[in-house]
Amino acid sequence: MSNIAVIGTGYVGLVSGACLADFGNHVTCVDVDAGKIERLKRGEIPIFEPGLEDVVARTAAVGRLSFTLDLDSAVKANEVVFIAVGTPPAEDGSADLRHVEAAARAIGQAMNGYKVIVDKSTVPVGTGRRVAGWVAEEVSRRGAAHAFDVVSNPEFLREGSAVQDFTHPDRVVIGADRPQARDTMKEVYRALSLNETPYIETGLETAEMIKYASNAFLAVKITFINEVANLCEAVGANVQDVARAMGRDGRIGAKFLHPGPGYGGSCFPKDTQALARTGQERGECQTLLEATIKANERQKARMVDKIDTGLHGAAGKTIAVLGLSFKPNTDDMREAPSLAICEGLAARGATLRVWDPVALKEAAWRLKPLGSKVVFARDEYDAITGADALVILTEWNQFRTLDLGRVQQLLKSPYFFDLRNIYPRSVVEARGFTYFGVGQ
Ligand SMILES: NC(=O)c1ccc[n+]([C@@H]2O[C@H](COP(=O)([O-])OP(=O)(O)OC[C@H]3O[C@@H](n4cnc5c(N)ncnc54)[C@H](O)[C@@H]3O)[C@@H](O)[C@H]2O)c1
Repeated sequence: MSNIAVIGTGYVGLVSGACLADFGNHVTCVDVDAGKIERLKRGEIPIFEPGLEDVVARTAAVGRLSFTLDLDSAVKANEVVFIAVGTPPAEDGSADLRHVEAAARAIGQAMNGYKVIVDKSTVPVGTGRRVAGWVAEEVSRRGAAHAFDVVSNPEFLREGSAVQDFTHPDRVVIGADRPQARDTMKEVYRALSLNETPYIETGLETAEMIKYASNAFLAVKITFINEVANLCEAVGANVQDVARAMGRDGRIGAKFLHPGPGYGGSCFPKDTQALARTGQERGECQTLLEATIKANERQKARMVDKIDTGLHGAAGKTIAVLGLSFKPNTDDMREAPSLAICEGLAARGATLRVWDPVALKEAAWRLKPLGSKVVFARDEYDAITGADALVILTEWNQFRTLDLGRVQQLLKSPYFFDLRNIYPRSVVEARGFTYFGVGQ
């Protein structure tokens, strides 16, 4: 059992904190957002993440999980301090380390003895050493002398299945220089060693690189199948059959071979850009990754063209958009393809009737710049009512089982754009719709 402080209580910090408490550790989650901490203290979960509420309630009830704004006390009281703050993209595409630096300096100012400082935020190679420098600077500024280790422990959880991913990870990666820090981390994750989770120990830089290389690879894989899908449309092939057959090859694997409107979310766009930037800075241009980033932007634009062309002009039309979050089971809309696609359609003169099971609150401010071009519907059928076309943008389960008869009655014209390929073309066409998938 370890005593842990987690700095940053967002998607990663909250899930990590709650699950680490569930593993038997004592965890204090810290944030600078007073509203967030107040809500968490009342037992309210500020994000939509299946299963998270139960873990938080369970671990808080037995006193193993608590929330505070008081970083200083949390650092003093705990030997292991995780940094899980955001690392958004800076103007030039590199990772903005402002929050990481603030957290590291605050740790240095609060330190009262040996600490293991664990970087869980996704940070460019070399950041662990910079964190050590910031902490040391603050410690020496106070005239104090405290030993500490910096560890890189990148997080691979997926929003929407974050609790399951954290508690049943494919691997735990620990980058550390010294055995004492490695031993501490083994204790933190002891619960996982019981179910034989692969546990990979490396140096700091390698662990930092593993995270970026993993996300970059997945982004490349998605983009690859998206481009193959586009070519399938041009040559009359069916990408779903292509992907299914490719995926049977053990060297390729079936996952991440689903074509769609382009990748989005809080990680892939910024992490690909940051890795490409690191490549440029180090004189090792990541050619494939740079092409991937461009192709992904083109994919989103292509979806706007597809709808515009399919409707013989989107101008003056009303389009029902189902699904706004960047993927199902989350309310996260950071870099969601829906943003670029809604913006593109509005720019071509369409009015959008949008609906998402959980992301409407998020959408309210993110789509605000589109003004009266966006109407927020009450549910999926309300969105469809009187629209000239239906566009499925996020594959929420409830969109897989739409009452097609009702959809047809409510739609003004039978245009069905399934940008996630969740319906068989034959089923939709048999109902009299004009169907558009991706790569079919
Ligand atoms: N979201 C994901 O799916 C995911 C998955 C793996 C890794 N990551 C990485 O984890 C990191 C965090 O991502 P996130 O999605 O949880 O971000 P987030 O924006 O949801 O949460 C970050 C939190 O940190 C808080 N914060 C910022 N500065 C602080 C400070 N100085 N002290 C205390 N709290 C502070 C913010 O108020 C916010 O609550 C990023 O580096 C991200 O790339 C995210």
